[in-house]
Amino acid sequence: MTATDGSPPPAQPQGRPAAGASAPPFSVAGGEQKSRSFAVRSFGCQMNVYDSERMAESLRAAGHVEAADADADIIVLNSCHIREKAAEKIYSEVGRIRHRAERAGRAKPVIAVAGCVAQAEGGEMARRMPAIDIVVGPQAYHSLPSLVARAGNGAIVETGMPGLAKFAALPPRARRVPPSAFLTVQEGCDKFCAFCVVPYTRGAEASRALPAILDEARALIDGGARELTLLGQNVNAWGHDGRTFADLLHAVADLGIRRLRYTTSHPRDMDKTLIAAHRDLPALMPYLHLPVQSGSDRILKAMNRRHGADFYRAIIDRVRAARPDIALSSDFIVGFPGETDADFEATLKLAAEMGYAQAYSFKYSPRLGTPAADSADQIPEEVKDARLAALQAQLAADQTAFNRASIGRRTTILLEREGKLPGQFIGKSPWLQSVHVRAPGLAIGDLVTVDLVNATQSSLEGQPVQQMAEAW
Ligand code: SAH
Ligand code: SF4
Ligand code: F3S
Repeated sequence: MTATDGSPPPAQPQGRPAAGASAPPFSVAGGEQKSRSFAVRSFGCQMNVYDSERMAESLRAAGHVEAADADADIIVLNSCHIREKAAEKIYSEVGRIRHRAERAGRAKPVIAVAGCVAQAEGGEMARRMPAIDIVVGPQAYHSLPSLVARAGNGAIVETGMPGLAKFAALPPRARRVPPSAFLTVQEGCDKFCAFCVVPYTRGAEASRALPAILDEARALIDGGARELTLLGQNVNAWGHDGRTFADLLHAVADLGIRRLRYTTSHPRDMDKTLIAAHRDLPALMPYLHLPVQSGSDRILKAMNRRHGADFYRAIIDRVRAARPDIALSSDFIVGFPGETDADFEATLKLAAEMGYAQAYSFKYSPRLGTPAADSADQIPEEVKDARLAALQAQLAADQTAFNRASIGRRTTILLEREGKLPGQFIGKSPWLQSVHVRAPGLAIGDLVTVDLVNATQSSLEGQPVQQMAEAW
């Protein structure tokens, strides 16, 4: 999928964990609470989706019950701050919720804004929109149930950044989770790319300890996960007690998980051991999301990416040598301040050389407080539009070509959700392609061997080789 500007950064569709009604009640500071209905909505990256799942779990553990958005007494909007439009979405959503309640003649639900806009704007949000009851940052959401219990007497703002403390304070993972589950292992960023808000909204780089990660991975596997995606803003910068990210991948693979993925990585942290893991670990899927942002050395320097285009090419060469069938993905920004036609041509050239299986591209969005926002060389909107269209046309053609080249392959897909037709499922190939398959009698979570047949830009069709799920 080639995301258009304004859409969230890479996020795999992720079902909510099935309601873990049997989970033991988790005690919440503030004592007894009456049970209310809630809905949590995610507007950001995979880590934002993971946080939404954990918030839902903590509200459930406090005795609340998940409901459709329109019926909920408590609505949590988990916001993203990465581009301007992402933040604006939250404000219009708050307005929509308030109007909907007024029209229906019912009390306004408790509205909590969580996530990165909450962290960046804090109390300003509630001043701008008094309908917001709670503003809670990405490192403070373990306190959500007690904040909800106190809501209703003026805005509550909780944007402390106590490192990774939330993980110890959250209730255990749900008893049932989707077949493909997320697991945050690292948070924050010390890289300070000139365009990016993440170092300010998520704080400094911090890695969770190995035993805590393995405990959570075991719980997810016990809950039904057959694929784990390890998450971090710079996941390959993970390091703890002298262990590297490659050590972590080996340790998680040793638990017996069938499929392992990670996102998102920085080229500077693709070390030898991690590249070797792509060769040595059968569970590690042949897919790498390694954002390059631009193909121009001048722009990469201005972006403070700390590497040039040839450094990126060299990394990809080594990854391909280790795992020849790897599917590559990237993020691109067009119209960064000072970007000339020649710089943009260099980006098109690099993208064409890589032959991405999929990629995400965005128009540069100036973010208050980041160095690039103050540059005098901002690019006119119509130039950004034209460059985005040209890049996306090329990326779409490459994605189609990658999918077409898969026709004839026999592979295994993990069934993640039901399709529109009876007996149809949509699963993922090892290369993260969506594959539609007619396989009556199978179930979500099954791994099925298929022959890949028809292909479009966004998906393929698979024909089951045997009408049986692979033995687990
Ligand atoms: N840590 C990851 C990126 C996380 S943000 C990395 O370094 O690769 C996801 C993507 O959003 C970025 O890769 C970038 O392409 C895009 N992005 C970030 N800030 C942006 C901005 N100000 N304008 C447009 N796109 C932006
Ligand atoms: Fe943002 Fe750069 Fe950090 Fe990625 S590496 S989160 S783009 S500052
Ligand atoms: Fe958005 Fe925050 Fe993720 S700004 S991309 S939700 S880390």
